[in-house]
Amino acid sequence: MEIKVYKTKQEVAQNFSKYLADFITDREETHIALSGGSTPKIVFDELAANFRADIDWSKVNLYWGDERCVPPDDDDSNYKMTVEHLLSKIEIPEFNIHRIRGENGPEYEAERYSDFLDEVLPKVNGIPIFDLVILGMGDDGHIASIFPNEIELWDSENYCEVAVHPDSGQQRVTITGQIINNAEIISFLVTGENKAAKVSEIIYDKEIAENYPARLVAPVNGKIAWFLDEAAAAGITSSQF
Ligand code: 6PG
Repeated sequence: MEIKVYKTKQEVAQNFSKYLADFITDREETHIALSGGSTPKIVFDELAANFRADIDWSKVNLYWGDERCVPPDDDDSNYKMTVEHLLSKIEIPEFNIHRIRGENGPEYEAERYSDFLDEVLPKVNGIPIFDLVILGMGDDGHIASIFPNEIELWDSENYCEVAVHPDSGQQRVTITGQIINNAEIISFLVTGENKAAKVSEIIYDKEIAENYPARLVAPVNGKIAWFLDEAAAAGITSSQF
């Protein structure tokens, strides 16, 4: 596990963008799963502002780790957020963008996207493999749209499932554990002091963290890279970095 800590969330965005640009440059083609959330949003802004021309976007295939079950022009849509902050500002072929269709019936879409990933992604261990999965982490330890009260979705035999947000009741389509853990690199982008307790529990205290979906991230062959700001890293010591 690699843990990188930066002073501010802006520095997290700058350094992750640089990491992503190098990652893409080193490869012929990449398959990347994106996340919603506030930290990915500032990464998208940074990529659009400073890496627009440095990255050959035609080599990049973009997917989503989760999507809210709303139309693509709804303010809740992760796809819409990504269009506004990144996709509308870079030159990426339309056919490289593989969104979860939030406007479809949730069950239908979970199955369609599972089949789609099965068809288009390369496979390792017989399971589709992303080169990189970008994850935010909620204050409750959720990742993608797997929340603590539905933690069993992590172990689903399907690559995608329908989840329900515990407070709003909003339905979402999310990728599940077997496909997340099969990724080559899983990067957590986590900022802000309200994440500090969960981050240290996940890294140090597996028992307390038992009910946090983020604790279940354990790549089969790949690695985890945490990108934290100092506020989110407040509970971990520098010997861990
Ligand atoms: C979503 C996200 C979700 C997000 C976390 C963290 O669609 O809601 O994919 O998993 O990453 O909730 O969000 P923040 O970075 O905004 O805290």
